[in-house]
Order: sequence, then C-alpha cells, then structure tokens
Amino acid sequence: MNKPKIYVTRDQPGTALTELQNLYDVTINPEDHPVPKHVLIEEVNGISGIIACVGDRIDGEVMDASGGTLQAVCNAIVGFDNIDLIAATERGIYVTNTPGVLTETVADLTFGLILSAARNIASADRYIRTGKWHGWGPKQFLGVDVYGKTLGIVGLGRIGYAVAKRAQGFNMELLFYDVIRNPEQEQKYGLTFTPLDTLLQKSDFVSIHVPLLPQTRHFISERELNLMKNTAFLVNTSRGPVVNEKALIKALQTGKIRGAGIDVWDPEPPQGTNPLLIMDNVVVLPHIASASIETRSLMIQMAINNLKCTLQGKIPPNLVNKEVVNVRPLSLT
Ligand code: DGY
Repeated sequence: MNKPKIYVTRDQPGTALTELQNLYDVTINPEDHPVPKHVLIEEVNGISGIIACVGDRIDGEVMDASGGTLQAVCNAIVGFDNIDLIAATERGIYVTNTPGVLTETVADLTFGLILSAARNIASADRYIRTGKWHGWGPKQFLGVDVYGKTLGIVGLGRIGYAVAKRAQGFNMELLFYDVIRNPEQEQKYGLTFTPLDTLLQKSDFVSIHVPLLPQTRHFISERELNLMKNTAFLVNTSRGPVVNEKALIKALQTGKIRGAGIDVWDPEPPQGTNPLLIMDNVVVLPHIASASIETRSLMIQMAINNLKCTLQGKIPPNLVNKEVVNVRPLSLT
C-alpha cells in the first residue's frame, strides 16, 4: 500500500522529520522561507497532511488543491492565524497547533525584551562593538528600573501567566486585561483585572499576549498608545497586526511612549525602510520568542503527533477547529 503523502513547509531542528520520513512519503520545502502559494498549490496535490508554520497561508484554495485527500493541517506553532479555519471545518479537515510547550520560552523572551528595552541592552551592545566606548561615564545609557514598576498584561492566557510569574520576582505591580476571567489564578499570581484604558494609563510596561483574530487586529492603535504614559514601553511577542505599526512608529517618534520591544511584525519580515529598525529606543527581534532548541524540538514533535493521530483515525490532541468532528466525512475518520 502506498504511504500517505505529507508536505512539510519548513525544515525543522532535531530528528523529528527523519522519523516522519520513515512513516510517510514526506516532501520538505528546501527553502528557508514560507512557501509561495503557487508552489504550495502544486505541492499539495494528493497529500494527506501539511505541517505548516508562521507565514504559510493555508486557505480553501490550497486545501482544495489536494484534490480532496487532505485530512489535517498541523501547525508546528501555537498561532493559527495563517489557516482559514472556516474553510478547513467546511471540508472536514483537522487544524492543530502546539499549545503549552512554548509558554515558558516565550515568557523568557518577553522578559528579555522588557529588560533590554528598559536598560538599553541592545543599543549599548551595538555601541561597544563599534569601538565608540572610551570608558565608564555616569550619564551613559541611562535606562529605567524594571524592579518595582507596574506591568500591564494584555491577554492573560498561558503566556500571560508565565510573564506574570517572572514579574513577581521583580516585585512588579501586575495589572491585566482579558475578556475571560479566572479569579483563582488571578489571585495566585497577584494580578488585578483592569479595564484596558486604565491599564494603559497606569502601566510602565505593557506586554501584549492576545492571539490574532479579526477582533484583535490593530487592538493597540493610536488611541490606545495615546493613553500610555510617555515614560512607558510597549512589548509585543504575539502577532504583528495586533499592534497598528504606523501608530506605534508615530507614538515613538513623537515621544508619546518611551520605547518598545518588538518580536513580531506587520508584515514579516519588516520592509527595509521601516523606521522601527533604526530607532535606538526600540529593541527589534526577528520573531524568535519560541526559538529555543528544546522548545522548537517539542513543537515539531507535537505537530507530528497530531498528524499521526489523524492518520490513525483518531481525534488529534491539539485540535483547534473542534466543531470539525461534526462535519468530518465518515470516510476520513
Ligand atoms: C507561535 O508558535 O505561534 C510562534 O509565534 C512561533 O514562534
């Protein structure tokens, strides 16, 4: 019997893909960038599963290009804004992600951005490397303290809590805003629910942890940035389009806020003339919040496990479009 065909949009760390190749007929995109749609459409013909990543736009057209054989799109990431969930559900296709395994890794990097933005770590590093440093000076690279300040967490999911845990060690006052409440957990982490506008007005650091949904696109825009203190910092490790980038640039250029830490962009990668790339009060990263060897290895293993379960006729553990079980054609279960 022919092995099921699988398309993997990006090569991955570790040996997980080699193991996948032992089980299935696997094609891996040889390029280190998202697959252009016309290539994807050619590649998915006759496949049973796609392992996808950030930047791979999997819509109904791509799904249909399989010719009806596609059973699952398994993201090797926690976000799923790259996949048309409605189209997948209508076609009985499972969509899965990798929740949980990247929580602490993303929270570490979020805290790294907070510290780096507050204490000019990245710009001071650039300065010494260019040979400009001629010795210690009392006014060099004056930042602001993080310890004891107020952190506003926008979106209190797993990662939001993990950031809060770290902030406790810095004796920070912890505010949060979310539409879902969990009083027991909030109390455990010393978090105070605060309406968004008030959170923006009170926080010294605002960290964004909401998923990208139609309702969260440009969730932080000019009005919200104008509410922030002019001494405050914005940190975004969620998705670029959650923050209106033009409004952020303006807020930084006009001193409405003091600085920012940016791991995610709109679009990705940022275009060459993007002013954020040359601002010294902004720490810029190329979407690496989950990029530790341990975590990325777990993420691909989790995606593969979701795919294997699907192909064994089981419901994958990290199913995102849960309502698909009601519409999934019997022949695929
Ligand atoms: C995710 O998992 O969604 C991250 O953004 C990828 O690092």
